[in-house]
Amino acid sequence: MKKIIAANWKNNGSKEFIKNYFDYFAKNLNNTNKNEIIFFPPDLYMDQIDKYSKKLNFSLGGQNFTSSGDDFTLTGGTSSKMFIDNGCSHILIGHSEMRLYGFDTYTPANLLCFTHDHLQAILCVGEDHNDKKNNHTSEKISKQLKDLYENEFIPKKVIIAYEPVWAIGSGKIPTLDNISFIHRFIKNNILEKLPSLKEKDIMVLYGGSVNLKNAKDILSAPHVDGVLIGGASLEVKEFTSICNLKI
Ligand code: 13P
Repeated sequence: MKKIIAANWKNNGSKEFIKNYFDYFAKNLNNTNKNEIIFFPPDLYMDQIDKYSKKLNFSLGGQNFTSSGDDFTLTGGTSSKMFIDNGCSHILIGHSEMRLYGFDTYTPANLLCFTHDHLQAILCVGEDHNDKKNNHTSEKISKQLKDLYENEFIPKKVIIAYEPVWAIGSGKIPTLDNISFIHRFIKNNILEKLPSLKEKDIMVLYGGSVNLKNAKDILSAPHVDGVLIGGASLEVKEFTSICNLKI
């Protein structure tokens, strides 16, 4: 079954790294499952990677953006129009690292409005260690999903990335039952609030310490529509093997 396999490179990469990476990727990608592959590189390297996107049939996305481009002047900002101009179809919103360090210039609610039909937003949600310890996971995620409902704009398609903060870069992941449970909780929560959407319009990706050893099990778990991978997406052999998985 076709899944979304997304690579969040965060602030990693160089021109040389990209050349070596895509030399290998081009030779070894054998995506018979027809998984949808999306790369989220640093903004400065978008153009370098776009060169490979058509031939290798993957999509591109930005890691964060600051405005639509028409309404707001901001030194250091990147507008949604610039991402579109550079071949992007997706944008990450509300990643926990951006939330933690306060780099979201606008709130995720406002950012969602700016995506309109041109960029598919992937809203990141997830509990931190304290929420988990105090059994506040569902409550925390409900609050973060409010960003979706406080807009007049109802997206045609919603992609959520469930990324428990404690699992990011830690080598720890929730049990598969817990991942499925939270993914179902997210889908039900959205369907209740946005009843014009159908279940098939809502996709939930899992992110946090996904690697080649656990990817197949996670991708095969009920209600998991894909994965958002940080560290392991920088290891080209590992990431290519994940893209080649048959689910
Ligand atoms: P890791 O895969 O390195 O845990 O990072 C996950 C992440 O933050 C993806 O957005």
